Amino acid sequence: MFQFAIGLICIILLPTSESKLVLVLTPKNPMARVGERLVLTCSASECAGDVTFTWQSLKDRPLYGRMEKNNTASQQIFDPVGMQHEGKVSCVATCADPKDKAQRSASVEVYAFPKDPIISGSELLTEGQDSDLTCTVPDVYPADRLKVQWLLGDKVLKDNKAVNPVVKGEAQTVTSVLKYKPTAQDHGQNVTCRATLDIKTEPETRETVASITVQYSPRDVHISENIQVNIGESFTLTCQAKGHPEPTVLWRKLEKGGLSVMVGDGETLRVKETSWSHDGDYECMSHNTVGNLTAQVTVNVQGESDGR
Ligand SMILES: *[C@@H]1O[C@H](CO)[C@@H](O)[C@H](O)[C@H]1NC(C)=O
Ligand SMILES: *[C@@H]1O[C@H](CO)[C@@H](O)[C@H](O)[C@H]1NC(C)=O
Ligand SMILES: *[C@@H]1O[C@H](CO)[C@@H](O)[C@H](O)[C@H]1NC(C)=O
Repeated sequence: MFQFAIGLICIILLPTSESKLVLVLTPKNPMARVGERLVLTCSASECAGDVTFTWQSLKDRPLYGRMEKNNTASQQIFDPVGMQHEGKVSCVATCADPKDKAQRSASVEVYAFPKDPIISGSELLTEGQDSDLTCTVPDVYPADRLKVQWLLGDKVLKDNKAVNPVVKGEAQTVTSVLKYKPTAQDHGQNVTCRATLDIKTEPETRETVASITVQYSPRDVHISENIQVNIGESFTLTCQAKGHPEPTVLWRKLEKGGLSVMVGDGETLRVKETSWSHDGDYECMSHNTVGNLTAQVTVNVQGESDGR
């Protein structure tokens, strides 16, 4: 029974056992960056007599390579590699006996990802206004394998593929637009555009970080407490607010009948010698190009003889 089985295998193998030729095409999954050098090697062994090598592209186009050979191996050299080298390539080896023949194929993959992304539009944003941040990734191939991710700090805002249509067989500039409504908290944060070319062996990533500038109106105002001052003495009022650009502070004294008088500027208002006329309500107004914010404080002037 066992012998019979071996006999059967021999009969099945017999028609091909004449061809001993062993043909190997390396690398198995050829991949190269545009501009680099790629060498495909076809090596034959166990061949009776001289080996003849022929190379073909399966798309009936030229190979655009240089050939080098010796007795046992043939090489296709692509130097520099370009988009024209992409596609299936096969190597055929024939021994002295034309029936002793073998073929191997490989798919050549080509990619280009030469530069880091460029972020634009992050320099002058205004709180609450719809804004576009643009990320441009130059000269990418194949563009349909590029993914672009936007991050604010380390939080992912948006994941997307290329937004512009892909042109086959060409390196392309890929653009991704982030539509975004900035908040004051985003000011000074980092925005990242992370581009990943998803190619077979290992994805290649390049990223660019930009600082966000958000203009926002004054807020978080801190004004000094209401005070009582003795006539003839000095007093100081302070007023600070956050904002971008840095707010400017103006002081007004509110008079009866809704009138007001400018009494100073800057975060500090200092009076050296208090008189009765200093008694009353003061308003500080913090303002910048985006808006303004006011706060009030009362000064109560006291003296031996209440002069009013
Ligand atoms: C033929 O070329 C191959 C590939 O370059 C090399 O590995 C091999 O050693 C060469 N053989 C001879 C006999 O020169
Ligand atoms: C922004 O990124 C820079 C370097 O890329 C880093 O030094 C800085 O601390 C980051 N800022 C914030 C707010 O994360
Ligand atoms: C302060 O802001 C208000 C709107 O919030 C505006 O009407 C006014 O003109 C501003 N005043 C100044 C002095 O900028």
